[in-house]
Amino acid sequence: MRKIRGTDVVWLFFLGALAALVVTKPEHSVYEWLILLALGAIQVAEAHLELSSDTIGAALVIALKLALCYWLVAETGGVESSYYLIFWLPIVSAASNLGLGGTLLNTLISSALYLSFLFLVDFETNYIPPEGQRELTVRVLFFFLSAILVNRFATENRAKTERLAQANRELREAQAEVQRSERLAALGQLSAGLAHEIRNPLGVISASAEILEKNVAKENEVAREVSGFIRSEVHRTNELVTRFLNFTRPSSLQKERASLNDVVRGAVSQLMKQVKGRSGDIEIKQDLHELPKFSFDATLIESAVLNLLLNGYEAMTSGGTLVIRTRRNGSMAEIEVVDSGVGIKEDQLENIFNPFFTTKPTGVGLGLTMVSKFVDSHGGKISVNSKAGDGATFLVSLPLET
Ligand SMILES: Nc1ncnc2c1ncn2[C@@H]1O[C@H](COP(=O)(O)OP(=O)(O)OP(=O)(O)O)[C@@H](O)[C@H]1O
Ligand SMILES: [Mg+2]
Repeated sequence: MRKIRGTDVVWLFFLGALAALVVTKPEHSVYEWLILLALGAIQVAEAHLELSSDTIGAALVIALKLALCYWLVAETGGVESSYYLIFWLPIVSAASNLGLGGTLLNTLISSALYLSFLFLVDFETNYIPPEGQRELTVRVLFFFLSAILVNRFATENRAKTERLAQANRELREAQAEVQRSERLAALGQLSAGLAHEIRNPLGVISASAEILEKNVAKENEVAREVSGFIRSEVHRTNELVTRFLNFTRPSSLQKERASLNDVVRGAVSQLMKQVKGRSGDIEIKQDLHELPKFSFDATLIESAVLNLLLNGYEAMTSGGTLVIRTRRNGSMAEIEVVDSGVGIKEDQLENIFNPFFTTKPTGVGLGLTMVSKFVDSHGGKISVNSKAGDGATFLVSLPLET
């Protein structure tokens, strides 16, 4: 709940002043007080409890206010009541919260309720002169005028707020993107040097292990086994360094006109090779729609699709369906990878494209960083939609013409 706001004080002051006026009247009913109090309470509660946050809530609050206003005017002389302006409360509420149709309907109901007091007038004894009738018409017309004005301002304000929120969202996304590229650039410089330096000693270690293996006696099995370990671990480290260098190196694009669907098929067969023998009941569905050939770097895009497929596969620890879809969307070619796996927690979503972010025990955390780098270098976009426990959808859009 929010604290007392400036507008609450104004409301309370306004209704308090009305209530104070009641006391100065020679005869006043206790209901007058109570209704003013109730209206003040609703007005303040409406803002604090966000009662009018949806249309039904807003309509209920307006109906309650209308009923109280009707009662107050009835208590204080009907058509002659000096409280007739209190009808502005439901009218302004409706105009601020509902559309034009709802606003006009509510104003019509408010006016009808107000004019219904005419039926209670005993025309035998109380003649309403023509100027009185004009006065009533003017009052009702002012109800409509103020309702339409407030509704227009409220609608314009809502549109402005929505535009501002949209601009804010875009700004935040752009900022995150800039931060990511800055981090990548800094990391790239640092690590390229380091990876390069690591490669030389690795070569020496590997060659030495080979020589050692050749020179130890056949019966020294322990030494042979250990030198085998050295070589395989060096090989693994070398692979990692190569992957890393590929990622940090500014990728120069080798663009050629090609079929994206063929490239996707290539990535799927790579995936099959890589996951052969892994347990799990995973079905892979290809839903590839007609696409024109266009110019892109097939190697990089295949690697990007493979990484997305691998991630989807790895996320489906207890089986499921992995769908790869392509389609044309205006001037973009889209690739969608949908898995029914563990999904991504909300607080992790903003980190998954960062280098070395991984939740896997043997993951490196470079897969998605590379994917986004490759997609960026084609002037494309990547987005993700996922909820924990509910699978993930990665969408890559590549421009058909660059
Ligand atoms: N389809 C997915 N479903 C659930 N989580 C995912 C998915 N794709 C990515 N993630 C999350 O994002 C993290 C980063 O993915 P990324 O591909 O960059 O690295 P990785 O797969 O962990 O390691 P590697 O470098 O071997 O690819 C993953 O560890 C995982 O937590
Ligand atoms: Mg990965």
